[in-house]
Amino acid sequence: MADSEAFVRFDGVVAGYGGGDVLKGVTFDVPEGGVTCIVGPNGSGKSTLLKTVSGLVRPRLGEIWFKGQQLVGLSPKEILRLGVVQVPQNHSLFREMTVHENVELGAFLVKDKKVIAERMDTIREMFPIVAERAKDKAGSLSGGQQRLVEFARCLMLEPDLVVLDEPSMGLDPKTLRSMFETIRMMNSVGRTVLLVEQNARQALKMSHFGVVLENGQVRLSGTGAEVLNNPEIGALYLGGTIEHTNQMESSAPSAVERTSNE
Ligand SMILES: Nc1ncnc2c1ncn2[C@@H]1O[C@H](COP(=O)(O)OP(=O)(O)O)[C@@H](O)[C@H]1O
Ligand SMILES: [Mg+2]
Repeated sequence: MADSEAFVRFDGVVAGYGGGDVLKGVTFDVPEGGVTCIVGPNGSGKSTLLKTVSGLVRPRLGEIWFKGQQLVGLSPKEILRLGVVQVPQNHSLFREMTVHENVELGAFLVKDKKVIAERMDTIREMFPIVAERAKDKAGSLSGGQQRLVEFARCLMLEPDLVVLDEPSMGLDPKTLRSMFETIRMMNSVGRTVLLVEQNARQALKMSHFGVVLENGQVRLSGTGAEVLNNPEIGALYLGGTIEHTNQMESSAPSAVERTSNE
């Protein structure tokens, strides 16, 4: 049964790696046009969940709907073609190739050279580093710069859904801020974003929706502000006490405003 209402719908997803289930019945929706952030402790199954979306892990049970299409059973390439692009947790650029070559590779499914050139122009405007460091080897960039080039590369397919696994990993606080701003920018040009973040507090603040994954199940889902302000979640996963969590209410409305702006 196709479900035309949800942009992405996880419905009872059970998946693992052969030695037992990591995901134990995951159900939630990713609304179109927003940023949805998944948080949760290490080992709770966040990366596994993202891999089920891009076809790298095949659920044993359950369904994943994307714009009314069933993703379970499709190959990673078929899922890419449908407009779902994932940036993996570990750095994934070809270090010996130039920045330009890496970004161009993002369009490997596009055959029309003119379309590729047009997209490249757009990307160079959105990500100045792609123009400035075009001829440099990707391996010579800092971790934060490589992250931006990975974002740029994934946009070459003009995906409807961008999936990011812990994009802030290994970045210093200043780079982190500009990385989060870049995610917002990608979202504002029409990409729905599904991301996993360890920097839960900061990520939830810029997200429209939040999902807490615990031991392979959804513990809580709601607007970013609702998840941020849930006292138990704040104490357990956001690195604060309950008192600390209450102070967060002053900054939470921004997430609500962003939701209502859609
Ligand atoms: N390729 C794999 N083979 C076997 N087990 C794995 C593999 N990848 C992850 N796991 C296990 O699955 C569980 C969830 O991992 P993961 O989805 O990476 O969690 P998270 O991203 O939330 O930290 C962990 O217990 C981990 O050891
Ligand atoms: Mg992970």
